[in-house]
Amino acid sequence: MDAPSQAEVLPTHTSALFQVAVKRAAELLRAGELVALPTETVYGLAANAFDTNAVAKIFQIKGRPAHNPIIVHVSSTEMAQRCVEQWPLLADKLSAAFWPGPMTMVLNRSGNVPKNVTAGGKTVGVRWPSHPFIQAVIRECDFPLAAPSANLSNSISPTNAEHVRKSLGGQIKLIVDGGQSQVGIESTVLDLTSHPVRLLRPGMIHEESLLSVLGELALGFGDSEEVLKSPGMLRKHYSPKAKLLILNWANEADLKSQIASNGAGEFSLSQTHVIAHTRIPLSTEFGRVSVIPHDAEAFARAIYAELHHADESGAGLIVVEGLPNTKEWHAIRDRLNRASAD
Ligand code: TXA
Ligand code: MG
Repeated sequence: MDAPSQAEVLPTHTSALFQVAVKRAAELLRAGELVALPTETVYGLAANAFDTNAVAKIFQIKGRPAHNPIIVHVSSTEMAQRCVEQWPLLADKLSAAFWPGPMTMVLNRSGNVPKNVTAGGKTVGVRWPSHPFIQAVIRECDFPLAAPSANLSNSISPTNAEHVRKSLGGQIKLIVDGGQSQVGIESTVLDLTSHPVRLLRPGMIHEESLLSVLGELALGFGDSEEVLKSPGMLRKHYSPKAKLLILNWANEADLKSQIASNGAGEFSLSQTHVIAHTRIPLSTEFGRVSVIPHDAEAFARAIYAELHHADESGAGLIVVEGLPNTKEWHAIRDRLNRASAD
């Protein structure tokens, strides 16, 4: 590929810069190139969803397995309808309630959507993101954008332009800086082809909000389903390079003894990065202690940046303070449990 050694990073913080970046992103996308764009959940690596060759580059650059389908991003329900075969009443209800926003609906795909977008499957995930930049680019292009998170396969999703630059900056031409992602973890994914609708990936739209629209909701996979419906549901996914432990401690001595007894004694405390929300260690022996507010929305917004930071600073061990066992923390617990899986 003829990509330059380093991606151009375009800012968007004034309306003039925003317009320049929209034009440049749309020009590259029309030419079949990939562009990293901000969304409210995490940054996406976007291609023209109707261009098979452009979509193939996504799999190549991310090192993404061909069996993992990609979400198609739209800027209206009409555009979403062009990507699917049928638009059930529930799709109307869900889109009215949660779009634009961090919710993806899996529906039967239309013939317009290339097979590699859906990993050869019959269904396609569609999402209308709320970030104004990606909306403006989709409107300018007038085609939907296939976009997975803009990271190498299996690593932590990027929540700012710098995260993207560090991992993919050498392989793409353009990264658009749209600021810190406001939601901070990936969208809620719902399968509307099963009855009742099935939650394939929890996100910051919680089950109660979904239930108020849907009435009923299936969680995870039924035992009889042998088909892997959403590779994001694999137990290990979204992992930092460092080992990650989720612990609850009474005090600092207890924390240190748990670190030692959890087989993590191989790392010194100076190689250990603690992410706490309630019981904040004061010891200067830890490599770093980060405090994220005890608030699910704020925690979601900040957690990936903390994991990226730990990896960049060469942490061997990341210890995250256990999260409350309540609904609003479900998606964050899900991501951290996967990140801690061996
Ligand atoms: O918030 C998000 O969803 C972000 C931003 C960029 O929109 N995108 C994202 O994409 O997280 P990705 O590819 O990193 O994760 C998409 C997840 C994967 O677990 C994939 O398997 C699942 O959605 N998925 C996509 N299409 C699907 C389909 N047709 N059926 C089942 N699962 C699907
Ligand atoms: Mg991803």
